[in-house]
Amino acid sequence: MTSTYDTLLSRLQSAFDTLEAGADPVLRTSDRSDYQANGVMALAKRLGRSPRDVAEDIVGRCDLEGVATLEVAGPGFLNLTLTPEFLAHQLTQLRSDPRLGIEAVAMVKTVVVDYSAPNAAKEMHVGNLRSTVIGDALARMYRFAGHHVIARNHVGDWGTPFAMLIEHLVDRGEGDTAFTIGDLDGFYKEARTKFDAEESFKERARARVVALQAGDPETLRLWRIVVDQSIAYLDLVYQDLGITLTIDDVVGESFYDDMLSDVVTDLQVAGLIVESGGALCVFPPGFTNRDGDALPLIVRKSDEGFGYAATDLAAVRDRVDNLHADEMLYVVGVPQAQHFEMVFAVARMAGWLPERVRCEHVTFGNVLGPDRKMFKSRSGDTIKLATLLDEAVERADAALIERNTDLDEMARTQLAVQIARAAIKYADLSTDRHHDYIFDLDRMIAFEGDTGPYLQYAHARLRSIFRRLGAPWDAPSIAFSLDTAQERQLALGFLAFPEAFEASLASLQPHRLCVYLFDLAQRLTAFYDACPVLTSEGALRDQRLALCDLAARTLWIGLSVLGIDAPEQM
Ligand code: ARG
Repeated sequence: MTSTYDTLLSRLQSAFDTLEAGADPVLRTSDRSDYQANGVMALAKRLGRSPRDVAEDIVGRCDLEGVATLEVAGPGFLNLTLTPEFLAHQLTQLRSDPRLGIEAVAMVKTVVVDYSAPNAAKEMHVGNLRSTVIGDALARMYRFAGHHVIARNHVGDWGTPFAMLIEHLVDRGEGDTAFTIGDLDGFYKEARTKFDAEESFKERARARVVALQAGDPETLRLWRIVVDQSIAYLDLVYQDLGITLTIDDVVGESFYDDMLSDVVTDLQVAGLIVESGGALCVFPPGFTNRDGDALPLIVRKSDEGFGYAATDLAAVRDRVDNLHADEMLYVVGVPQAQHFEMVFAVARMAGWLPERVRCEHVTFGNVLGPDRKMFKSRSGDTIKLATLLDEAVERADAALIERNTDLDEMARTQLAVQIARAAIKYADLSTDRHHDYIFDLDRMIAFEGDTGPYLQYAHARLRSIFRRLGAPWDAPSIAFSLDTAQERQLALGFLAFPEAFEASLASLQPHRLCVYLFDLAQRLTAFYDACPVLTSEGALRDQRLALCDLAARTLWIGLSVLGIDAPEQM
C-alpha cells in the first residue's frame, strides 16, 4: 500500500508544481498538526511573492478531495490535518497489510554489509559490540526492505598473532583442541607471555609467520585448527546475543591472501604505485598529514608483507566483481575513517569501484564506563562480551523474580535472556551512532524509561490483553471513529511507521527507529490511561482492540528489524 505520507506528499507536490515545476515540498510529522509542509518559503523567494500568499495559493490548488484540511501557519508553513474519514480509511488499509505500510523496494539491490569483524585470535570483547549490534540491525532492516543482503564478517584471522598461537599449540600438543583452545583468551595470554619472555619462542613465531604466508601445508593445517576453534567460539557469542551472522558469513582476511599480489600488479600496471622507503604505496590526491605532506596508502610493506589496506582493496574488488554489490557498508569504528577513505579513493582510481556502487563507512562512537573513559574492567582488562551478557541475564532474572512472574524457572530464564539482549542492544542502537554512550546495566535493564525492556513490555502488555479475551479475537471490520485525542494520536503514530523506518534506513541510523518506537509506546500509555479496552463495550471495544492489535504488530516488526526479541509475555 502507499503510505499516508507518500499520498500526501505527492498531492502537495502537484500543487507546488502548478506554481513552479520542480519545486519540492518537505513534509514532516508534526506535534502541532498531523503533518507540516515546508518548502513554501523557498518557493516564495524564487517567485518573488510573500510566503503567506504562496501558501494560500497552494491551499487553493491542492486537490485533497476533502481528505485533509490545510492551514497556513506562521510565516508560511502549511499545517495539514487529516479528516476522520481519511484517517479511518488509512487505518483500515494498514490493518490488512502485513508489512504495515512499509513497501518492499521495487529495485532490489545487492548490499554487502561488513560488520562485527573481530580479531579471531581473541574472544569477543566490548570493543566488538557496536559493530556487531549496529551492523546486524542494518542488515535486518535492509532485508526487511526487500534488498539482497550479503553479510561479510571480515575477521582478523591472519598474520603474527596466529603464528604465535600456532607455536603455542605445537608446545601444548594438539590433543583435544576444543579443550586447549576453548578458553581463547587464556590461550592467547599464555602465548603472549611466552612471546614476550622467551627469545626462542619469538624466533619460532617469526619463522612461523613466514611459513604461514608461504603457504606451508603443515603450518596451514595448524592454522586451520586454531581458526576453526576461534570461529566456533565467535559463533556461540553470536547465538547468545541473537545476531544473524553465521559461520558462512565469516570471510576473513585470509580469504583474500592469494588475491593480494594481483592487487599490487594491477596497481603497478595502472601506474599508480610509487615506491617509498622500500614500500609500495599509492598516494590518492587530497590526503595529507599535518605538515601538508601527501599520505601514502601502503599496499606492500618494505618487508614485502601485505598489510590491512591491501586486503581491503582485494575485498572491494571481490565484492564488486564477484558479489555484484550495488552498495557496500563498512560498520567499523571511527578511528579507521582515514583508512577507508583512502581505500575507497584508491579503488576508485584503479577503476575497481564504479561510481554507481555506493560505498559507505558507517562509523560509531565508543562504549564508555561509568567514569566516562573507555569501558574496561577494574583491573584494566578488556571486558568479554560473554561476561557482559551473563551479567545482564542475571540482572534481568533478578528483576523478573522481583516482579513475581508466574513463569516456571525454565521459561523465566529464557525470558531473562531475551530481556538482557534487548537491554544491551537497545541501549546501543538508541544512541545516535556517532555519539559515545555509557554502559550502565542498571539503566539499560530498567522496565521504565527509554529502554529495550520497556518496549518489550509495551508489546507483551498488548498481547496479554488479547490473552485475557479468553478466545481468539476474530478481527472484525471496523468503522473507526477515533473520538478521543489519545486514539487519534495512536492512529497517527501507526501511519508514521513507514516514514520512520525509511528515514532510519536511508540515514543508516537505527536510532531513528528507536525514537519512533519509544514515542509510539508513550502514545500507547496515554491511550491506556484515557481509553479502557477490555471494560468498554461493543463497537468501541472492537475499535480499541483493533488499535491494540496494530500497536502490537508495529512494535513487533519494529523490534524485530532491530534484532530485538518481542516476547509474548513478561
Ligand atoms: N578486524 C578489524 C579490526 O578489528 C576490523 C575489520 C573491519 N572490516 C574491514 N573490511 N576492514 O579492527
